[in-house]
Amino acid sequence: MATELNRFSKTLTQEVTNPAAQAMLYGIGLKEEDFVKPQIGIASTGYEGNPCNMHLNGLSVYVKQGVNANDMVGLIFNTIGVSDGMTNGNDGMRYSLPSRDIIADSIETVVAAQWYDGVIAVVGCDKNMPGAIMAMARLDRPSIMVYGGTIRSGHYKGQKLDIVSAFEALGKKFANNISDEDYKGVIQNSIPGQGACGGMYTANTMASSIEAMGLSLPFSSSYPATHEGKQEECKKIGAAMKKLLELNITPKDIITKKSLENALTVVMALGGSTNAALHYLAIARAADIPLTLDDIQAISDRTPFIADLKPSGKYFMEDILEIGGVPAVTKYLYSVGLIHGDCITVTGKTVAENLAEAPDLNFETQKMVFPIETPIKPSGHIQVLYGNLAPSGAVAKITGKEGLTFDGEAKVCEHESEIIDMLSKGEIKAGHVVVIRNAGPKGGPGMSEMLKPTSAVMGAGLGDKIALITDGRFSGGTHGFVVGHITPEAFEGGPIALVKDGDRISIDANTRVLTLHISDEEMAARKAAWVQPAPRFTKGMLGRYIRTVKSASEGCVTDEA
Ligand code: FES
Repeated sequence: MATELNRFSKTLTQEVTNPAAQAMLYGIGLKEEDFVKPQIGIASTGYEGNPCNMHLNGLSVYVKQGVNANDMVGLIFNTIGVSDGMTNGNDGMRYSLPSRDIIADSIETVVAAQWYDGVIAVVGCDKNMPGAIMAMARLDRPSIMVYGGTIRSGHYKGQKLDIVSAFEALGKKFANNISDEDYKGVIQNSIPGQGACGGMYTANTMASSIEAMGLSLPFSSSYPATHEGKQEECKKIGAAMKKLLELNITPKDIITKKSLENALTVVMALGGSTNAALHYLAIARAADIPLTLDDIQAISDRTPFIADLKPSGKYFMEDILEIGGVPAVTKYLYSVGLIHGDCITVTGKTVAENLAEAPDLNFETQKMVFPIETPIKPSGHIQVLYGNLAPSGAVAKITGKEGLTFDGEAKVCEHESEIIDMLSKGEIKAGHVVVIRNAGPKGGPGMSEMLKPTSAVMGAGLGDKIALITDGRFSGGTHGFVVGHITPEAFEGGPIALVKDGDRISIDANTRVLTLHISDEEMAARKAAWVQPAPRFTKGMLGRYIRTVKSASEGCVTDEA
């Protein structure tokens, strides 16, 4: 029997016991003939205050037109969004990761409560994508993600700029390496308009890998926000959604262990953000698929890092379209046996069928993506570390450019903001392992990103001279010798809480061990003397977050007992 395309919305539109709902649907302008059509919730994370999201409500209108043109009813609703680039360090950044789960909860709530038959999410900034995908997995109704697209690069005095340029300018200012005029010039020209941060940072990482996982149309991650292809994609979504409804392909058909591996393979190959580890752990849990940090390490072990993209490389995300986009890269990875071709996608076709239509990478004419025989690094840059400083795991970003080991003296910051102060006073020196703690999911709360500290360190010229470890996160824009996601976090008495200034710490990416060089007896004595700090919040969203959030090694999910 053919699947009813309006199998959820018919509860409201057809059942005689729902006169109020039907009256309200007439009230919003539906006609009688619309009552037999499928209803599609179009979730926009659009809001005016952030370049990553400022254009999404406009794109949603194109999506709605495409939905309605395919004999369905498109109904736009909004969720919140938070711009990671505008959160002003720890205080605002506390809300960033929790915003992922609020977005997931919001989409789940509206789609389930309003009986929508499918959902299309139009998303931009970092947390939008995983939040939307988590909701899709929970709802398991036909779903497609539309990425708002990457920003174009800014320009100043012949230099191409992006958001990280603005942060690094601050470090240069501390080091007296930039004039006031040039500092202002960089700030005023880094962001030329709409679109998500322009390197292979978290937003572009998640967009590229979700496309590889099969939940957005081919090229969704490659069209910049202002490219005409982005509008075309939005208009095509309606037809794609209709097909998904007809075939009854739902997110749990698409999100499988194999497709998660495809997503993570693309993250590794492109040199993507460490946040992907956190988000794919959470997406897998939403889809009831076992995925662990060790699975992520296994994918990193077998995947060469081949793309010369920012933050560690030369090129911007806008450049990737010129070499065939993410489909061309994924096609290459498939051709060398690193991608599973038999996973179903939102086109109704398999990954292999989609890739058959993708362009080929030309290694003669482009130097952005290298052959696997001559990679930037023979295995992935995301490394899972354990050791007496991270008994439950930590996630490092090690491209190899910084070396594979670091041994140094601990310099402890109890709060992210302290490092900026220390840098400005010249207290951070070559050889230090800067420890930023109480930044975990519960302790922060919200597991802040260290974008400001790491960019400032880079700008101060210390990027390759110090290491930075934390129970917080790193922005996708981060480069340098950094280890984050340390678990257990300091708030829960993890060993990172016990580090003192001057302790020796070593990071070994070869053995994947993070070591605090004190004796077991000393560690036990410090632990016995440790007193758990009071939670920074007991009420409101952050108070609830502290009570519900799981560890970083469990994806920081908030919906599990
Ligand atoms: Fe939104 Fe970077 S702040 S993508």
